[in-house]
Amino acid sequence: MSAGASLPLLKINRIDKSYGDTRILKRCSIDVAAKETIVIVGPSGSGKSTLLRCINLLETVDAGNILFEGRDLARERKNEHLVRQRIGMVFQNFELFSHLSAVENVMLAPMTVLGVSRHDAHDLALGLLTKVRLRERADYFPDQLSGGQQQRVAIARALAMKPKVMLYDEPTSALDPEMVSEVLDVMAELSAEGMTSLVVTHEMGFARRAADKIVFMDAGEVILTETSEQFFNGSTHERARRFLDQILH
Ligand SMILES: Nc1ncnc2c1ncn2[C@@H]1O[C@H](COP(=O)(O)OP(=O)(O)OP(=O)(O)O)[C@@H](O)[C@H]1O
Ligand SMILES: [Mg+2]
Repeated sequence: MSAGASLPLLKINRIDKSYGDTRILKRCSIDVAAKETIVIVGPSGSGKSTLLRCINLLETVDAGNILFEGRDLARERKNEHLVRQRIGMVFQNFELFSHLSAVENVMLAPMTVLGVSRHDAHDLALGLLTKVRLRERADYFPDQLSGGQQQRVAIARALAMKPKVMLYDEPTSALDPEMVSEVLDVMAELSAEGMTSLVVTHEMGFARRAADKIVFMDAGEVILTETSEQFFNGSTHERARRFLDQILH
């Protein structure tokens, strides 16, 4: 294998982030290989959302860098649009456009950002809605859809830009319990198909099933990165074991 082939697709390299005097992220590093799914866990306030927001350039980092396909994105602001295309983000609260139907939500970015024709965008969107099992809801508006359905539209919308990495920030935590699995199933399927994914979630069943690696964060630090197997069969780190114990009981 050449040196280039072994580079991680996404390299988060010793990043620091403060708000005012408060240091939120402390030298955080994570390597994400192509096709890998990494689940990030950790207590509330540990910096998980901030980390994802830095990757997607919704926040700037104070130190360190984030390399995507070997390029330092934060230092090349002109690449911002590229980042937004290559990195899909799914939030807790779906954030669909309420005045657009499901299919229009999915069509919008390909048409406005990529210049895809309305006809082709419509075909693409219907294909993606089929993938997230919502073909029959294509013409519904967000307020006519359940939370689980809205989140699956949001996933389809992110996929419409053909991202190389998907970031999910607690995508199921705003959902009623009976809708959680329909969203996790779609995410797990994408992961199994090789979509590189970075997922913040408390859903340990999903982590066990879909994650290659688990990253445990605490107080702004990446405390450990372990294979999912290691993590669930007794993490090498005491704090991670305690955290998992609390979550599972
Ligand atoms: N815009 C902001 N301004 C100031 N402080 C912020 C801002 N955003 C986040 N913080 C602080 O940064 C810390 C980390 O927040 P973050 O949302 O990243 O944590 P988290 O791990 O995602 O937590 P949760 O599990 O509750 O979502 C918290 O102490 C939070 O109060
Ligand atoms: Mg968060």
